[in-house]
Amino acid sequence: MYKIFETVDEVSRYTAQRLLDKIKATPAAVLGLATGSTMEPVYAQLLQHMQQLAVDVSQLTTFNLDEYIGLSADHPQSYNFYMYQHLFNHLNLPAQRVHLPDGLASHIEEACQSYSAAIQAAGGLDLQLLGIGSNGHIGFNEPQTCFNSRTHVVELSAQTRIDNGRFFADQSQTPSHAITMGILDILEAKEIILVATGPNKTQIMAQLYDSPIDEALPASALKQHPNLTIVLDREAAALLPEHALKSAV
Ligand code: GLP
Repeated sequence: MYKIFETVDEVSRYTAQRLLDKIKATPAAVLGLATGSTMEPVYAQLLQHMQQLAVDVSQLTTFNLDEYIGLSADHPQSYNFYMYQHLFNHLNLPAQRVHLPDGLASHIEEACQSYSAAIQAAGGLDLQLLGIGSNGHIGFNEPQTCFNSRTHVVELSAQTRIDNGRFFADQSQTPSHAITMGILDILEAKEIILVATGPNKTQIMAQLYDSPIDEALPASALKQHPNLTIVLDREAAALLPEHALKSAV
């Protein structure tokens, strides 16, 4: 299902409301969380609603999608830092229920296996929030990642390093590798919300709309999911065919 809104603000309100509804309906929900600039206004809206409504998050469990290898939790560009800055520092979530891949793990393969196992031990993801890379990656699952993958180490593509280089002082500081939940981990979520906004996502959203399910476009794996919502602003949806736009909202 597509939901298309005029503005980023409306996209973020809608997405935050979906998260809030899930938390209210299922206080012990297991949430899969994402990072990236798309999610910043979503988390800002979510926090605002949560504070106004005094929502109890003490039973929630969270698993983040991915993390750069080689960045410590206190590095300002690590996803760990991002999540505390934008969400966790402002919520009363028990620390033992917050999970992020460890970009400094000494036994990285074991850490990957334990991460997927921990998701399963928690009962699986009730709702997975996703952004999308301009090359169609979800989490850090780059093109040609096997759709049966579990949490694993990836080498970031040149495109991803260029895109994400904007967050680093210079391109050469963008990490070359990351840990990401696998595509199968993501697909096993009971519900998935993919959010894309702005002109940098226009091309890939049009490509995704037309694409068959194909490992060359990681987000196309989501087309086989029974409970997927794709939330776009007008810019990201600009090249979708007219009939898709009409049936979207
Ligand atoms: C990174 C993350 C992805 C995210 C993507 C889009 O590469 N690993 O999970 O979806 O960026 O980020 P942005 O929202 O900044 O465009």
